[in-house]
Amino acid sequence: MKHTSQVSVNPRNLRILNVVGARPNFMKMAPIIEVMNQYPDKIQHILVHTGQHYDEKMSKSFFNDLGMPKPDIDLGVGSGSHAGQTGRIMVEFEKVCIREKPDLVIVVGDVNSTMACTITAKKLGIRVAHVEAGLRSRDMDMPEEINRLCTDVLCDYLFTTDRFADENLRREGVPDEKIFFVGNVMIDTLLKHREMAAKLTLREELGLKAGEYATLTMHRPSNVDDRDTLEGILEALAEIASTVPIIFPVHPRTMKMADRFGLTHYFSKGEVVEGIWTTDPIGYLDFMHLNMGAKMVLTDSGGLQEETTILGVPCITMRDNTERPITCELGTNVVVGNRKEKILAAAKKVFEGNIRKGTIPEKWDGKAAERIVEILVNSRVGCIPCTINWCMECTLHSSDQERDS
Ligand code: UD1
Repeated sequence: MKHTSQVSVNPRNLRILNVVGARPNFMKMAPIIEVMNQYPDKIQHILVHTGQHYDEKMSKSFFNDLGMPKPDIDLGVGSGSHAGQTGRIMVEFEKVCIREKPDLVIVVGDVNSTMACTITAKKLGIRVAHVEAGLRSRDMDMPEEINRLCTDVLCDYLFTTDRFADENLRREGVPDEKIFFVGNVMIDTLLKHREMAAKLTLREELGLKAGEYATLTMHRPSNVDDRDTLEGILEALAEIASTVPIIFPVHPRTMKMADRFGLTHYFSKGEVVEGIWTTDPIGYLDFMHLNMGAKMVLTDSGGLQEETTILGVPCITMRDNTERPITCELGTNVVVGNRKEKILAAAKKVFEGNIRKGTIPEKWDGKAAERIVEILVNSRVGCIPCTINWCMECTLHSSDQERDS
């Protein structure tokens, strides 16, 4: 574990551990940290990276693109089986919690790091806030759905992106006092960087014109871990790519599986962008730039369903379900499953111009992080009622010296 925390301790401050682990976490945490920096006399925050994602292109490049500070603490857990990875995160994060004695842990999204750090903190009696709570795909074959359920049932603050999420939580018996509809932090980040991304030149460098290519992300186990499923999807994509090239920044999991199944002949590479054109994972800004000008986005990711809704670009989600139904109700998203004919039928509609314009969901306005931090600052976390024996405000609190030792 690498520890580079320079944070000085002011006992009256709210002491927060912000947790990130995998690629989609970074753009969710970035705006929260930015707003927290506006409260130097109220909040001390420490950024913990579990190391679930560790490749330069899956992790560090996002910190650079988003202007995020380097993690104060890197747990360096890396990849592994679900239990192996989750367990390693818990063991390492427990040490951090015991040493840093936070008043609150903030987790985002639905990856293994989200759940592992929630369980660890709660068992130490530390309050936990979940940003992007209440999303439900109702698909227990998705590891993320298990992570969401375990996280939400334990958390003290449930910050939601839309009214569907509020309703899901209520139906699960979560009391109203814990649910805060704040909007979408991922959209905070998108709106902040949108102009910057529009000015980039990658599209030109690749010889592409707006509206004459598609983009693709695909890494879900349900799509890439079974040979026949993956081949069916690739057949559909190859057919679409005979009309417009598909830019495919390949996730390491997908490349590993395509290699193993002998399916890499579907991919093209090199100078000329044609067919299903593959490249290493692309940075946040460059990918937003490409998505903005895409004819359509094909995906199995969660975040892209939301981003395309804001960008007004047709999104074809190659999954049987979505935890983000609002993107279908209001946005540009259609969920079509992973069968070849369905994917092709959806793409055909886009080529025919049969697309929905979509509207922007409530509170996806760039201010979600502000709302979250205001709520935390005003609610005197850790003191209502205090169960944490190092809480700064209550009678049980330990001395600064003890906290620092
Ligand atoms: C994880 C999340 C998923 C999220 C995705 C975004 C869970 C359960 N899944 O899936 O919700 O949508 O991140 O990318 O938390 N690998 C590398 N380099 C890396 C990271 C991973 O090569 O930096 C390879 C390893 O072979 C690893 C595999 O990718 O075994 C899968 O990584 P893992 O973090 O286990 O899950 P993801 O598929 O990335």
